[in-house]
Amino acid sequence: MKKNTVERSQISTPKLPNSPIQFNDIVFYFLLFGFGLGIGITLSFFYLKDGSMDFQLNQLKVFRASVAHPQPPPPPPPTTLPVVVTQPTPPVAAQHGTPSSPTKKMRRKRRNNVKEVFEPPGSKHNMTDRMLFWRASFVPRIREIPVKRIPKVAFMFLTRGKVLLAPLWEKFFRGHEGLYSIYVHSDPSFVETMPKSSVFHDRWIPSKIARWGEMNMVQAERRLLANALLDVSNDRFVLLSESCIPLFNFSTIYDYLINSNKSFVESYDLPSPVGRGRYNTAMAPLINLEQWRKGSQWFQIDRFLAVEIIIDRTYFPVFWRHCKNECYGDEHYIPTLVDMKFPDRNAYKTLTYVDWSKGGPHPNKFRRDEVTEEFLKNLRSSTQCYYNERIVDVCYLFARKFSPNTLEKLLRLAPIVMHF
Ligand SMILES: *[C@@H]1O[C@H](CO)[C@@H](O)[C@H](O)[C@H]1NC(C)=O
Ligand SMILES: *[C@@H]1O[C@H](CO)[C@@H](O)[C@H](O)[C@H]1NC(C)=O
Ligand SMILES: *[C@@H]1O[C@H](CO)[C@@H](O)[C@H](O)[C@H]1NC(C)=O
Repeated sequence: MKKNTVERSQISTPKLPNSPIQFNDIVFYFLLFGFGLGIGITLSFFYLKDGSMDFQLNQLKVFRASVAHPQPPPPPPPTTLPVVVTQPTPPVAAQHGTPSSPTKKMRRKRRNNVKEVFEPPGSKHNMTDRMLFWRASFVPRIREIPVKRIPKVAFMFLTRGKVLLAPLWEKFFRGHEGLYSIYVHSDPSFVETMPKSSVFHDRWIPSKIARWGEMNMVQAERRLLANALLDVSNDRFVLLSESCIPLFNFSTIYDYLINSNKSFVESYDLPSPVGRGRYNTAMAPLINLEQWRKGSQWFQIDRFLAVEIIIDRTYFPVFWRHCKNECYGDEHYIPTLVDMKFPDRNAYKTLTYVDWSKGGPHPNKFRRDEVTEEFLKNLRSSTQCYYNERIVDVCYLFARKFSPNTLEKLLRLAPIVMHF
């Protein structure tokens, strides 16, 4: 077989030297073809840059719309009566693809949209939630990563304004660049003033009003997740409050989170006014009373759950509509969603310690004199917990609530107790 093909090519090649005119023609046509191809590519490049992507998207929309409504209403019969046009008709070009003459402003806007959709955003972007969540929802279908990549942990701070214990966190992160990313969501009126040398510099994400107890707080959590998901290196996502502290050094926390095969979302059924009592029957039948869960809003989750939380368009709208007036969606939405849809992926506990022993609607806020070596050691290992189906001495990686006046003491005790 191999011999045969060699012979054949030997037979066909000798033709060329015997016909020099034909050979020249071939060279000429080849050059002509190359020239034409060059012009074609250049032209199509400019056309593409000029917003034809947008046009293609529009076409896609038109196509999808026609699929969704296979039988559009027939056009109104010609009539002499005045016709009231309720919706502006799209420009003809958008429907038929003939070059239009939009104003310069429109063209610029279109180009910007294309850029916004297809180019990676900077830390300060102007994306709407709709755009942001859509972009963050991209998930690779091939699981093996083709490049060497070091996974990162995303530390997401949900604050009113400043990160109150920032100096402690600076100390915690120092020397671990490349293994973490930081995102802060605070009140939109807050203006960040962190120095360039700070790990928090330029880490504030575009925010909206988020009030404790209201669903816009959950939306802020989802906004943090969506921003963090845009960085494909982020593998674990930790939600922290402004009064949280780390109980271990960075290496210990990083290893614990990256190597865990579960997510950490507290989720339990509480038959009391502050548990089942917050359930609204209007959520049935999608969510029934027996499925209603409660838990701490401070979670530590993997990429899979993070994506599921931002793409949820089934449960979130129901919560948005019916979880109001002392419903405290931030304590129920994620715990209920995770328990209903992804129980196998959850460790059913949070890694953030909090002290409810003093009673009342708010947990204990530790004062300066409460923060001692003994106290911090206790938080690190006073009980035993499961980790990857083994029993370990570590139950909590973080703790709250610490007031700003504990900072000095914490900075002094960090090297002694927490090893950083
Ligand atoms: C976002 O919008 C503001 C105000 O319109 C503008 O100053 C800023 O440059 C925009 N940022 C980006 C990244 O487009
Ligand atoms: C981090 O803390 C662990 C104990 O949790 C300790 O074994 C380790 O040496 C510490 N690492 C550094 C760099 O100090
Ligand atoms: C989680 O990790 C533990 C220990 O490495 C292993 O025994 C267990 O099978 C893992 N579970 C899952 C669901 O992967």
